Amino acid sequence: MDDYRDVNRRWWDEAAPVHAASPDYGLARFEDPSYLSHVVRFDLPRLGDVRGLEGVHLQCHIGTDTVSLARLGARMVGLDFSEPALDSARRLAAHTSAEVTFVAGDLYDAPKLLGRDRFDLVYTGIGALNWLPDVRRWAQVVADLLRPGGRLFMREGHPVLSTLDDERTDGLLALEYPYFGRDEPLVFEEDGTYVATDHVFANTVTHEWNHGLGEIVTALLAAGMELTMLEEHDSVPWDALPGQMVEDAEGEWRLSDRPGRLPHTYTLQARRPS
Ligand SMILES: C[S@@+](CC[C@H](N)C(=O)[O-])C[C@H]1O[C@@H](n2cnc3c(N)ncnc32)[C@H](O)[C@@H]1O
Repeated sequence: MDDYRDVNRRWWDEAAPVHAASPDYGLARFEDPSYLSHVVRFDLPRLGDVRGLEGVHLQCHIGTDTVSLARLGARMVGLDFSEPALDSARRLAAHTSAEVTFVAGDLYDAPKLLGRDRFDLVYTGIGALNWLPDVRRWAQVVADLLRPGGRLFMREGHPVLSTLDDERTDGLLALEYPYFGRDEPLVFEEDGTYVATDHVFANTVTHEWNHGLGEIVTALLAAGMELTMLEEHDSVPWDALPGQMVEDAEGEWRLSDRPGRLPHTYTLQARRPS
């Protein structure tokens, strides 16, 4: 079997230009110098003042959130393993005059590539952890990147949402996939992506993992981090259960029927002690 990184990178290399061209990512909206991605806008009340902070966006994809954080005044570096994603991200940053550096590399190599004890802010999420087999190693990467006193800020798809069968058409929520992390990947074969597109994918296989909320928090504590916020939300910024969700004016999706039944996403903050 191919290494999970090669399988997933092939998928992301093909998806990145499709995402960059899609109305869902809406890169043209960045022409307005005050525009922020809706992912960053959602968390503004929790994010606080990031002006002057040295920040890194892990798994930055096409840079929409990275550029938004730079617009809020952070000095940002974005890291991703997909060169086509970074090509788009660099074009977006150049076009918007955002001062962002983008670095290609695997998540687990980030401290080696970017430097240890360096950042005031590690920002990540929105479909990042599910590509990583080992959440303990991920948490150690976060701790290693942060300077003492620095903080992790992430909003991520809730692991309960990731257990649900997203192909049901009868409106029932069915627990189909494992909640807890496992060594073996969940192997998915799909011919689309999470944005609306006519593109016919040549690469259709992905290898992914779910990580329980307790496993994520425990991994951060084991890496020496202190948990400072854990807030669960009844919305998610993509159409996670097609046919069962409605979108609001802010680009957030909720179960159309009783969204309070399901934790859709969470925002977590943790601090490396000084
Ligand atoms: C869903 S995107 C992250 C969400 C992002 N905030 C956005 O703009 O929507 C996931 C990103 O993770 C990257 N990725 C997946 N596995 C990776 C790995 N092992 N190392 C580095 N980047 C990885 C992919 O290339 C992709 O750009």
